[in-house]
Amino acid sequence: MRAYVLERYGGPEGARLTDVPPPAPGPRDILVDVRAAGLNPVDFKFREGKLRAIHRPKLPFVLGNELAGEVIAVGDEVKRIRIGDRVFARVAKDRAGAFAQQACVDEAHAAHMLPDLDFMAAAAVPLAGLTALQALRDELDVKPGQRIFISGGAGGVGTFAIQIAKWLGAHVTTTASKRGEALVRSLGCDEVIDYTSQSISEAGTGFDAGFDLIGGKTLEQMFEIVKPGGKIVSVAALPEPQTAIKDLGGRRALSVLFWIISYGIRSRARRAGVAYRYLFMHPSGADLAQLAELIAQGKLKVVIDRTYPLASISEAFAYIEGGHAKGKVVVTMV
Ligand SMILES: NC(=O)c1ccc[n+]([C@@H]2O[C@H](COP(=O)([O-])OP(=O)(O)OC[C@H]3O[C@@H](n4cnc5c(N)ncnc54)[C@H](OP(=O)(O)O)[C@@H]3O)[C@@H](O)[C@H]2O)c1
Repeated sequence: MRAYVLERYGGPEGARLTDVPPPAPGPRDILVDVRAAGLNPVDFKFREGKLRAIHRPKLPFVLGNELAGEVIAVGDEVKRIRIGDRVFARVAKDRAGAFAQQACVDEAHAAHMLPDLDFMAAAAVPLAGLTALQALRDELDVKPGQRIFISGGAGGVGTFAIQIAKWLGAHVTTTASKRGEALVRSLGCDEVIDYTSQSISEAGTGFDAGFDLIGGKTLEQMFEIVKPGGKIVSVAALPEPQTAIKDLGGRRALSVLFWIISYGIRSRARRAGVAYRYLFMHPSGADLAQLAELIAQGKLKVVIDRTYPLASISEAFAYIEGGHAKGKVVVTMV
């Protein structure tokens, strides 16, 4: 089968489209005939070797973290999913493999696609949609009437986050440039700060919580506008000890490393009286099923910026690496 394979860490030349044997499903796996796969910044960060402290699979390794397709085989212990079902999934990061004509997924990480969802839209949901859901619902525990600040609302995660925060009943402020303003407003965002010409402080103060998709100076400024007792969850800054304990299987050495590298951010958070957490999202078929329901009810729109055939996947990588995607980028397996 055709697959986009990482052969050595570094620039785009370290990955190529090639033929590899199809994967064989284990007892709890489903084998999916992949129709479409979503791209995310983690794909190029992983290719560059930036995640090696966290996971370092043996190369060659088939890239790709999320997919949609039709089930063509199931393992002996699979209960919920049958051959012929249309499914979508965030693939576990240690096996990845979505940029390929076939991929294996743990049954627990997959959900059924509801009838109105097509493969392209379904493939765009798992990683960014689950990140937004898990951050806003589980970590920030967003309640109706709260004021939530989301940095970077026009990208893959942001377009889901704005809508999920609105669905949870929040008043939402985000940052976007002029290029993204109309999009974030169309998704229900209440206030928009143009990050290219305005300071985040212009959003006011007293926010109940912040969801940070940008990191760096943006995160620093968010500590000034979230009220004491509030919480900020970032998926773009530096991991802290809880990331290792809650999201990465309690790895002690990582927890010490994360304690050291996040010292500055945690001190800043303490001074502001704000709790800080770096989240690594996790695959979840149950959470994906909830997102599928929201999409079917018309409460969640999937925003697709560009699509590419698998043969042009290196162009898709270049586009997402440019950092200006509006919504999601998807490759189709035609
Ligand atoms: N830890 C986790 O589990 C996890 C999960 C998912 C994502 N992430 C991380 O979260 C971050 C966001 O992911 P994504 O998929 O949303 O990325 P993305 O789709 O590539 O985001 C691109 C968008 O960001 C906007 N942007 C760029 N710089 C900005 C700034 N300074 N302020 C406001 N907006 C800005 C761009 O708008 P303009 O073109 O208008 O500038 C563009 O629309 C990435 O770092 C990703 O690696 C982490």
